[in-house]
Amino acid sequence: MAKLILIGFMGSGKTTIGRLLAEKLAIPQLDLDALIVQENKQSINDIFTEVGEEHFRKMETVALKKAINQNVVLSTGGGAPIKKLNQTILKSVDAPIVFLNAEFKTIEKRINRDASWPLLKRIAELKQRYIKQNFIYRDLADIEITTDRKSPDLIVEAILEKY
Ligand code: S3P
Repeated sequence: MAKLILIGFMGSGKTTIGRLLAEKLAIPQLDLDALIVQENKQSINDIFTEVGEEHFRKMETVALKKAINQNVVLSTGGGAPIKKLNQTILKSVDAPIVFLNAEFKTIEKRINRDASWPLLKRIAELKQRYIKQNFIYRDLADIEITTDRKSPDLIVEAILEKY
């Protein structure tokens, strides 16, 4: 079973922090998006372009069911905790769910540097999604960490203190 689950908006640092946490806990890190790419042999961008977001969400649930059973630090995709079914899957595991909360300004800067985010093409929607999703993350999480102006090491330390 997963030992720790990271949730938060895209660009909140789930992959980076997950990698560092996994090192500290001496278990592998599993990135849900990476698993989707591996299982479907397609990039996230190509999946969005070719089959659309709705189908991507189905692939995401399939991947989540697999990921949750592994002894890992699990970094989820920003949209993964939105579906009720996925929330149930995430809560079924006896592992702390950690919400990495970054200000929208910080998120915007980070995702602008990485044009591979498929949802970036709809930037106007992004803030609305951010506001809505942060409520869901907060509700679901056992631990919430604000990440703005904190180094990755400091964020990891803050999580491990509460772990
Ligand atoms: C998404 C976030 C992405 C990825 C996909 C959709 C979202 O993951 O799953 O582009 O809906 O917020 P990251 O949060 O790891 O960027």
